[in-house]
Amino acid sequence: METLSTAPALRERLWNEARVAFVPTMGNLHDGHLDLVRQARQHGSCVAVSIFVNPLQFGPSEDFAAYPRTLADDCRKLEGLADVVFAPAAAELYPETQTIFVEPPPIAGELCGATRPTHFRGVATVVLKLFNLVQADTALFGKKDYQQLHVIRAMARQLNLPVEIVAGETVRAADGLALSSRNAYLSETERGEAAMLYRELQRIRQEIAAGGCDLAAIADEARMRLESRGWRVDYVSLRNAATLAPALADDEKKVALAAAWLGKTRLIDNLEIG
Ligand code: PAJ
Repeated sequence: METLSTAPALRERLWNEARVAFVPTMGNLHDGHLDLVRQARQHGSCVAVSIFVNPLQFGPSEDFAAYPRTLADDCRKLEGLADVVFAPAAAELYPETQTIFVEPPPIAGELCGATRPTHFRGVATVVLKLFNLVQADTALFGKKDYQQLHVIRAMARQLNLPVEIVAGETVRAADGLALSSRNAYLSETERGEAAMLYRELQRIRQEIAAGGCDLAAIADEARMRLESRGWRVDYVSLRNAATLAPALADDEKKVALAAAWLGKTRLIDNLEIG
């Protein structure tokens, strides 16, 4: 495995590869990331992973400075799974002030975008840069970040990007909590409570399976239950899994999505229904 930090070194290493499968990350790798890297092997003769904490996708009062940076550990975890690690400095991806952006679709202003208005613009812009540098045949993204996956797929289609987007299932801890680098911010008590977010999503799925069709009420009740346990809820929402438009009772595939704060930590999760 080679770790590279510049665009020319990356190009030199990859130009002759038959099929490149790519997993973009912000590092602090856990089994969710590693699962995508393992799947990548089925899509390429060369597996490339990027590690870059992208300033453009963090809002001014978000955790960009505090975001865990653990490059040496990450590289150890990738040994034997990846062929190339691309870990650029900020100046490599942002050689000048960024004034050109990928404008994501209107759905990027809802759900997480309601409280993080420039987040998906930052994600889409850096992912396009990374796609241009890596020129992968396939790129893998986790369903854990369902709205992100939706925006990236739309970008790939609408900008005619020559890359196939593959989705990986969410990897969870034994109690159901979706693995996330941000779980490290949780206190012991908060960590005990954190799996309630997924349990509420499961409860929503059960209620719908049992014939519940007032979707707004089902989501509101989940929100209220979380709030009564001390969560600060950004949203609990039922959406059409393909479009992310508000779900209708007879939509065949729905997804329940939630974002909520436990103390200073914001957690997101989702569960497909149907
Ligand atoms: P990051 O949060 O590091 O996640 C990198 C990839 O791992 C994303 O596709 C994410 O959905 C996936 N992932 C995270 N937790 C997961 C879990 N528990 N199970 C399965 N997959 C999981 O997402 C980003 O970085 C950034 O926004 C990025 C796309 C790299 C752009 O900066």
